[in-house]
Amino acid sequence: MFAPSAPRASARVTARSHFPTIIPQQLHAYHGGYLILPDLFTPGEVAAMKAELQRIQAIDTDHLVRERSGGTAKTIYRVHDAASPTASTLFRAAALSPRLLGSARQLLDDRALYIHHTKCNLKSAIDGSVWQWHQDYGAWKRDGIAEPHMTTALVMLDEATEMNGCLYFIPGSQRHGYIESEMDDRTTAYRLWVVPKPDLLRLMEHSPEPVPILGKPGTVVFFHCNILHASGHNLSRHDRWHVYTVYNRSSNAPREVPAPRPEYVRSVQSQALVMGGDEVLPQAEAPAPAAKAAL
Ligand code: SIN
Ligand code: MN
Repeated sequence: MFAPSAPRASARVTARSHFPTIIPQQLHAYHGGYLILPDLFTPGEVAAMKAELQRIQAIDTDHLVRERSGGTAKTIYRVHDAASPTASTLFRAAALSPRLLGSARQLLDDRALYIHHTKCNLKSAIDGSVWQWHQDYGAWKRDGIAEPHMTTALVMLDEATEMNGCLYFIPGSQRHGYIESEMDDRTTAYRLWVVPKPDLLRLMEHSPEPVPILGKPGTVVFFHCNILHASGHNLSRHDRWHVYTVYNRSSNAPREVPAPRPEYVRSVQSQALVMGGDEVLPQAEAPAPAAKAAL
């Protein structure tokens, strides 16, 4: 196993104690299907990420899904990839940072990981719509990924509350494995493979109550690709922006499938990522050498 370092005194990971980020107690907690790490990104980093998404949401591209109720952006894909119209060096740096990639390596017990996709869900005040109950692996299995050995890092860019449509998990539900899903392209503008209602009700009857995933900006939540999750409409006056980076083992890269989804949701670039640095904000430009005085 890719061994984490000796346990730290506190189970709380901060932006100042970056690598390895996950201690054994936290690895154990992840068996519940998710792990919440408060304060992983600083207020300055979060502000820079929000500014990036303000810029990117104005781009005219098929990498962006808008709400049915109007032009508001619901999801922006592939911000980590330099070849994408939505590319952002900041999100790429975050995705390669020890805080995210290092943690994902520990959770998946593998150093050779790549990114299946990134998506930024801008659940905006009043307009932001629901995500129905689903397992992410419902789509990723159809992408040709053989094993449900994937983890997603969610970065909260706003405080997530019940009122603004936080995520809900059914704890431990990943242990049921993959549940046959059906396509729902009616509920929102976002096409989603969802768990059919009779199966969902049966499972809920025998499961712990869903838990709201609340947190301040800068909180990171890792979750298993088979955990059942959903989120409600944003009824509040506050945006709820989340950024998701999905890590997969290079050895579990998608096999060929008929009519594959576009690369912005199903990356085929499965070569192992190289870990970046912990500094994710662009460095200040070095000051230009002083101009020589005119003779
Ligand atoms: C998702 O499940 O993929 C997104 C849910 C959300 O952002 O609320
Ligand atoms: Mn999901």
